[in-house]
Amino acid sequence: MPAPRTVLLTGAAGGLGTLMRELLPAYGYDLRLLDLRPIEGEPDAIVADLADRDAVREAVRGVDAILHLAGISLEAPFEKILRANIEGTYHLYEAAREEGVGRIVFASSNHAVGYTPRPRGDDPLIPVDTPRRPDTFYGLSKCFGEDLAQLYWDRHGLETVSVRIGSCFPEPTSVRMLSVWMSPADGARLFHAALTAEHVGHTVVHGSSANTRLWWDLGTARALGYEPQDDSEPYAEKLIAEQGELQEGNEAHAYLGGQFVTDPPIWPY
Ligand SMILES: NC(=O)c1ccc[n+]([C@@H]2O[C@H](COP(=O)([O-])OP(=O)(O)OC[C@H]3O[C@@H](n4cnc5c(N)ncnc54)[C@H](O)[C@@H]3O)[C@@H](O)[C@H]2O)c1
Repeated sequence: MPAPRTVLLTGAAGGLGTLMRELLPAYGYDLRLLDLRPIEGEPDAIVADLADRDAVREAVRGVDAILHLAGISLEAPFEKILRANIEGTYHLYEAAREEGVGRIVFASSNHAVGYTPRPRGDDPLIPVDTPRRPDTFYGLSKCFGEDLAQLYWDRHGLETVSVRIGSCFPEPTSVRMLSVWMSPADGARLFHAALTAEHVGHTVVHGSSANTRLWWDLGTARALGYEPQDDSEPYAEKLIAEQGELQEGNEAHAYLGGQFVTDPPIWPY
């Protein structure tokens, strides 16, 4: 596959979409933006719902690749997740197939495997082929997205890198996040590697920086050419002083998915 230049960025108005709008053009991409919500200062952004199949097909027409970030990013009633994350992702894959787009980078999540116990002591890092253990309907929709990606590769030759993102924010804000944090700059590095690596078929990778307290294995991400540059450790002392170490017996500290296991934050719309 030739290196993509024109990339459809779905979810462009969101937190990660906003960070990637700032960072990805430096890699030479020409971004086409799509979101449910208009984006200030971006009059050309496509304002569309993934439920609108015609709009989605028009949005993917002519792009070289898609970075698919759009969707409900917290827990919500199943019907809402079904519409935005499950049917919406299906519409995007169908449109990509119909329009001959060769590569999608899919924003999966640690919550697809959120009930995986976090490693302790000398435990090995969590591998990418760890069994699916979604912690919410939200996490379940990410399992669906990964399986959809596998189907479209096996049946239609449409390639995907599914990135199980840990937490991509400018700074880690919790002790758990020290282990799963991905700096925005590393996020851009990983998405760039996922967009440009040769022969990915359907590859699942973990999305984190090179954190000292890392919980999961970055091997498949590195195999794409991803070289993380950041580490959450400089934030550790302050966060642990404020919040304390992760505690045995606290369920929200026991699993990869953290608070989503016990008390998931709810999508406000
Ligand atoms: N930020 C993280 O650390 C993180 C971690 C794991 C996974 N992810 C995934 O990465 C993606 C981006 O995350 P984020 O933090 O920017 O979330 P976000 O909620 O800030 O952004 C999601 C965007 O998708 C748009 N959207 C929702 N439903 C839509 C629909 N039906 N049609 C079109 N647009 C729609 C929203 O308007 C919003 O702008 C999400 O898929 C999320 O599940 C993010």
